[in-house]
Amino acid sequence: ALFAGVAVAQAVTAPTSSEDASAYSYWQPGGPGDFRGPCPMMNTLANHYFLPHDGKNLTREVVTKALQDALNFEPSLTEIMFEQALPANPIPNATWFDLDLLNVHAVLEHDASLSRSDAYFGNNHVFNQTIFDESKKYWTDDLVTANQLTNSKVARQLQSRATNPTYNFSSTVDSFSKGEVLAPIVAFGDKVAATTNRTFMVHFFENEHLPIHLGWHRPTEPVTLEDVTKLSEILAKSQTLLTDSPSAQQGTQNTTHGETE
Ligand code: HEM
Ligand code: MG
Repeated sequence: ALFAGVAVAQAVTAPTSSEDASAYSYWQPGGPGDFRGPCPMMNTLANHYFLPHDGKNLTREVVTKALQDALNFEPSLTEIMFEQALPANPIPNATWFDLDLLNVHAVLEHDASLSRSDAYFGNNHVFNQTIFDESKKYWTDDLVTANQLTNSKVARQLQSRATNPTYNFSSTVDSFSKGEVLAPIVAFGDKVAATTNRTFMVHFFENEHLPIHLGWHRPTEPVTLEDVTKLSEILAKSQTLLTDSPSAQQGTQNTTHGETE
């Protein structure tokens, strides 16, 4: 589903700087020669021109500024993420990466993604509606809880392990994956309650467009490493399927209907 609603700008009118307060209203999907990858947010920020629209030469400065301007990420948080991303560039001591370099399987890209197919089955980086519909089934409330996010993650892992003979999901992958699964909370939700807005999140995944026209705005509080660490711990606890486990905590339980249909 390509986004065909408001605010589709022509490349000629693209802002030269993401400082432009109206940068959210510029949007154009990647065209021929533009790089996109497996990260729905990096693609989205390139579509909105917060990142270079061609998805190339993403340096620390460029990424830090984009995540701060668009999502209010504290620079120190983005710098850590950027360091973790650099190995995606095979050139020794490279100081940048391109979005398509994120596609290489088993470097950063991993199995059981919420919205992409496993590399074993073909394309590991383009949005896949069938896969995403499976993940989405588990987001049963308007305010999606940490448990519901984890349910979708675990469901994808089960689906993958049951069907992909090369299924690989190490503990390192698991920590990256938890970071990805909590990302919609810090971008579109409430990091204290550990919930996120289903409408915003679904629109974002399906269109690689920020849900401004649906009422979303840039988070008013900076997103910090501490926020991400806390949410990651909440998600780790929600991965147990036992209801009497000491780690099964209040706030990570399903509050209402838990059906997946
Ligand atoms: C997934 C890289 C920032 C949200 C991914 C993946 C990569 C990646 C390689 C694919 C993993 C996989 O599913 O196989 C990066 C880099 C970033 C960045 C290098 C910046 C330095 C962000 C931000 C957000 C975000 C700021 C949102 C706040 C997501 C989500 C997924 C993801 C939700 C999971 C997609 C899925 O499971 O289908 N990212 N990312 N990312 N990223 Fe990012
Ligand atoms: Mg993947």
